[in-house]
Amino acid sequence: MSEHKVEMTVNGARLAATTEARTSLGDFLRNEGGWTGVHLGCEHGVCGACTVMVDGRAVRSCLMLAVQADGAEVKTAEGLAAPDGSLHPVQQAMRENHALQCGFCTPGVVMTFAALMERDGTPDEAELLEAMSGHTCRCTGYQGIRKAARALAAGTVGQGGGQ
Ligand code: FES
Ligand code: FES
Repeated sequence: MSEHKVEMTVNGARLAATTEARTSLGDFLRNEGGWTGVHLGCEHGVCGACTVMVDGRAVRSCLMLAVQADGAEVKTAEGLAAPDGSLHPVQQAMRENHALQCGFCTPGVVMTFAALMERDGTPDEAELLEAMSGHTCRCTGYQGIRKAARALAAGTVGQGGGQ
């Protein structure tokens, strides 16, 4: 199996390692970088739990190879909060609306919403809900996540709690 030197920036820090060509970005981030906020569930592109941002776009890290992300700027859920610890609006919305239980799906959902906001500024509820349709959550019945999406679209995050 051929080995390749791969280097990328993850949450502002350099990550470089030699890895097999077949290594997924998700495995690379977890095993070489210790970014265990990248959750691997189905590992075939269905559940969305492994979603990270690559050069500002939401990507399923189980479907992208680490070698394909060589030179990229990668962000995981660990990199979303501000350096002083203040939560990203998406994290705040999820918190205020009780949008998680076990938390397995959460990093992926959060990164999908955050990528949409980075691209669009103020995505509307329909766009957020459509993006969410690519995520499987075994716990919440989706209601809290939908409420979080609604709050983000309405710009009411951080105004005194959930709906
Ligand atoms: S682990 Fe990547 S989509 Fe499920
Ligand atoms: S909170 Fe458990 S899978 Fe979504």
